Amino acid sequence: MSTAIGRDLARAIQAELAAEVQALRAQGYPPPGLAVVLVGDDPASLVYVRNKSRACNQVGIVSSVHHLPRTTTEAEVVARLAHLGADASVHGILVQLPLPAHIDETKVIEALSPDKDVDGFHPLNVARLFTRQPFLVPSTPAGIVEFLHRQHIAIAGKQAVIISASRIVGKPLALMLLNEGAAVTVCHIYTRDLAAITREADLLVSAAGKVKLVTADMVKPGSVVVDVGINFHEGKTVGDVDAAAVAPRVALLTPVPGGVGPVTVAMLLRNTLLAYKHQLGLLSRPDG
Ligand code: GUN
Repeated sequence: MSTAIGRDLARAIQAELAAEVQALRAQGYPPPGLAVVLVGDDPASLVYVRNKSRACNQVGIVSSVHHLPRTTTEAEVVARLAHLGADASVHGILVQLPLPAHIDETKVIEALSPDKDVDGFHPLNVARLFTRQPFLVPSTPAGIVEFLHRQHIAIAGKQAVIISASRIVGKPLALMLLNEGAAVTVCHIYTRDLAAITREADLLVSAAGKVKLVTADMVKPGSVVVDVGINFHEGKTVGDVDAAAVAPRVALLTPVPGGVGPVTVAMLLRNTLLAYKHQLGLLSRPDG
C-alpha cells in the first residue's frame, strides 16, 4: 500500500475541482472565495490554515485569512462573520477551531451564514444531514466517506465503529455512514470495554487523538481501519493506531500522515465550490 494513498486521492479530486473552476471562469463567472477566520496562535491551527490556503490557490479559489488576536471578543468575531456573510466575493467562511476559551464556539457557529458554512457546523446544515438532505457537510467525515468510495470499499451492511463523538468528526460521520446503510456504534471516553466493541467492526474509525489507542488485539482480522488521529509524538506526526502492529492484521489501514487528512482538505474545497454554485444560482436545489 502506498504510504500516501490519501495524497494521491486528494490530488485527483483537486484536479477535478480546478478543471471545474477553470470552466466557470472561462464562462465569465467570478473566482470562488473562501474566508478563513483564525483567532489566536494555536500552532496546529496555524499549520492547518496554511495548508487550506495553499490548496485553495492550487484550484483557483481566492482565500483570505482573517487572523485575529487571541484577545478578540466573541462579539468582535460575530461582527466579522456578519461582515463576511454580506461580502458577495466571499462564498465560503470557516472559523478554525478550537477558539480561545473565552469564546463560545456554538454561538460563533450560529452566527455563520448557513449558505457559506463550508464546515457544515451550523445547526441548519446539521439538520439537513440528519434528514438525509445533505448540503454542506463537515470535511473530515466527508473525506472519510469519499476515501472509502474511491477505494471501492462498500459501506452498506457493514458494522462500523467510530471512536469519537465530536461535532467535527464522530457525530456527523455516524449520520453519514447511517445514511449509507451501515450499522453504526459510536464510542467515546465513557465507553466500557472499548476493545470488545472495536473487535466487531468491519470498519473502524478512530479520531480520538490518543497515540496507540488502537492496538492489534482491538481489530477484526481483514477489516478496514481508518486512522483520523493527528498526534504530535516524539517529534513525529502519528495517528491513533499502532500502525506497525495493526497493518498486518487488516485489509486496509489508512496512514498518518498522508491518509484521510489531505482528502479532508479537498472536501473543504469541494464545499466552497458547492456554496459558490448555490450562491450564483447554478444549482437547482441547495443539495445540487
Ligand atoms: N479544527 C480541527 N478540525 C477542524 C475542522 O474541520 N474545521 C475547523 N473549522 N476547525 C478544525
